[in-house]
Amino acid sequence: MRLLMITTGLLLLLAVSCDHPETGSAQKEKFIDSLLSEMTLEEKIGQLTLFTSGWDITGPVLNENYRQDILSGRCGNLFNAHTVAYNRELQRMAVEETRLGIPLLFGYDVIHGHRTIFPIPLAEACSWDPGMVKKTAALSAKEAAASGLNWTFNPMVDIARDPRWGRIAEGSGEDPLLGSLYAHARVEGYQGTDLSDVFTLAACVKHFAVYGAPQAGRDYHVVDLSERTIREVYLPPYKAAVDAGVATVMSSFNEINGVPVTASKAYLTDILRDKWGFKGMVVTDYTSINELIPHGVAEDLKHAGELAFRAGVDMDMQGSVFNDYLAELVNEGVFSEEDVNRAVKRVLALKYDLGLFDDPYRYLDEEREKAVLYSDELMEHALVAARKSMVLLKNEPVNGTPLLPVQQSVKKIALIGPLADNRVDVMGTWHASGDAGKVVTVEEGLRKKFPAASIKVLKGCDFTGNDMSGFRAAISLAGQSDLVILAIGENHQQSGEAASRTCLDLPGVQQQLLEKIHETGTPVVAVVFAGRPLTINWMDEHIPAILYAWHPGTRTGDAVADILSGDCNPSAKLAITFPRNVGQIPVFYNTKNTGRPFNAENKYTSKYLDALNEPLYPFGYGLSYSTFEYGTISPDKNSISAGDSLTVSVTVKNTGKCAGEEIVQCYVRDLVGSVTRPLKELKGFSKISLDPGEEKLVQFTITEDDLRFYDINMEYRAEPGEFRIYVGPHSQVDEYVTFTLNR
Ligand code: NOJ
Repeated sequence: MRLLMITTGLLLLLAVSCDHPETGSAQKEKFIDSLLSEMTLEEKIGQLTLFTSGWDITGPVLNENYRQDILSGRCGNLFNAHTVAYNRELQRMAVEETRLGIPLLFGYDVIHGHRTIFPIPLAEACSWDPGMVKKTAALSAKEAAASGLNWTFNPMVDIARDPRWGRIAEGSGEDPLLGSLYAHARVEGYQGTDLSDVFTLAACVKHFAVYGAPQAGRDYHVVDLSERTIREVYLPPYKAAVDAGVATVMSSFNEINGVPVTASKAYLTDILRDKWGFKGMVVTDYTSINELIPHGVAEDLKHAGELAFRAGVDMDMQGSVFNDYLAELVNEGVFSEEDVNRAVKRVLALKYDLGLFDDPYRYLDEEREKAVLYSDELMEHALVAARKSMVLLKNEPVNGTPLLPVQQSVKKIALIGPLADNRVDVMGTWHASGDAGKVVTVEEGLRKKFPAASIKVLKGCDFTGNDMSGFRAAISLAGQSDLVILAIGENHQQSGEAASRTCLDLPGVQQQLLEKIHETGTPVVAVVFAGRPLTINWMDEHIPAILYAWHPGTRTGDAVADILSGDCNPSAKLAITFPRNVGQIPVFYNTKNTGRPFNAENKYTSKYLDALNEPLYPFGYGLSYSTFEYGTISPDKNSISAGDSLTVSVTVKNTGKCAGEEIVQCYVRDLVGSVTRPLKELKGFSKISLDPGEEKLVQFTITEDDLRFYDINMEYRAEPGEFRIYVGPHSQVDEYVTFTLNR
């Protein structure tokens, strides 16, 4: 135990705990209790306070005097402060210049990498590879922790079915199973097995709860959803994060059915603590206690603080409400000091687990910072993750052969679009401290990959505005080339927080540019960069090859070039449904049948007059340069009893000419229930690699547990009856077998 540089108060406490060797947790408890007994009420409340350092803010800075607040003990935790040099000085102030010397937590939005940027989470979700995603989290933690951080506000696990909502980019898509697997993987990745390991961070699952279902896709808007949908669709990923041992939870901005979550005891205490057994610390989102006033449930800040604290909030992010009013509420007897102690203990326990009481400078090592930032393993994984996240949506033949992969014999390539030589936007939303200087652009990637080709690059137009003055040159270049690669889509601010859109077409005049380039007759490959599904009907109809690259991060150009050249066979599949137009939203795969399912012969069935019901690309969809043939699905039995399980098998064969990976998906439909059930629900998947001509047997086991849902009495159970099991390449698979769950 390192005792250096810790103030006398703490020295004494640590010495006491060392004199009496006890089990880890008893020692921890004793340490925290003695520390607590030394603290004034104000110092305690300081531990429940989190202020921004002033960097990278996403809201009003209510307190610019954070340094003074650290010194006075009013602020026990900081966010948006990083780099070893910067944080070391702040930590020194906390440890050496405050009465008790309690070290600071340093939090930050490390969402998809810190300096080295990985694909946005929605892109990574399309890998259907939780192992890979866990590695992304572990490496992000390693780099961020080397930069002086010890806490990340991630994973963001909000299920989202509405691509108008800009923050869809930060989550893992629409499916509760996939979302839960990623939530679990990310928590394990960030935290490792020991929080005090200097290469890990404490994680914070957010935004609890149901932040991903705002009305009309407008950020921060009201959530009004049935209890059943909340429990079955939206809550599982948060629960998975809690089960994985997440250290902290962030309460969300939104209300749910009339109650803002930051004031909701039902969510923050009854579900989170009492039902799920969460033992860690709950922090609010940015000023969400203050926002209880405009929500219309609090009369003033003091009332807001009372509601939030009573609901189960431990730490106030940026609002200064606990700081300003909690002591008053204790003095008036609204809360007891013991109530405050409970919250403070959770904060101190986290600091203890991070090892900050052993050595407050453990995350502040300049040598480690130099060695870890952008290290080979990070840069290599950024490439792997980007390659595994890009979805090939279309690859049709031009003159008899598929346009992709691009042949090395192509002589003249026109690379056109605002993302052609772009370093910042390809990092996507919340790239925080991502280093644009390290980004490999599409142009750089293609030049390396096709050294013999003449590659000419033009922007054509911007992301916004109506300026078409670049069109003429772009059209002329396209006309003189053998192939056009169009790098188009959204910039990094067109998705993410406070970036909802009502029109999901290519922004600015990019659609017009696309149409003009298409008119030249030169074959076009569209590489789309975006933080959400865009409505790309026209593109799908007219452009032979579409690669949906999302926002891939630092190794963008290398990954795009690897896929376009065929050095990497694309394998990703959509973790989110692509609508044909905004009017179809919300459109998601696990929908219900209705009493009048669509029937082309019958006008009075559920449909639109002007669009199909089906999305443009369904959940689970994605192409490869290989083709895969599915055999018949064979179950080992056709009925099971409670507690029993059943296995279905299917052979999958690579009928293409190159090795490839296929994501084999298994869905279940419960045909009759006490309440209506979705047409399909993902119950399992398997990502397999196959050489040309190779076939593999893939098996899925379905247990009674997989068939549970909230029945008419809101009991979570499986109901006897008939079920279908579908196995195939995406959620629109038609092939199924049936089985019965016996009474
Ligand atoms: C607001 C965002 O909603 C949240 O995700 C983020 O962690 C905080 N700001 C802190 O930056």
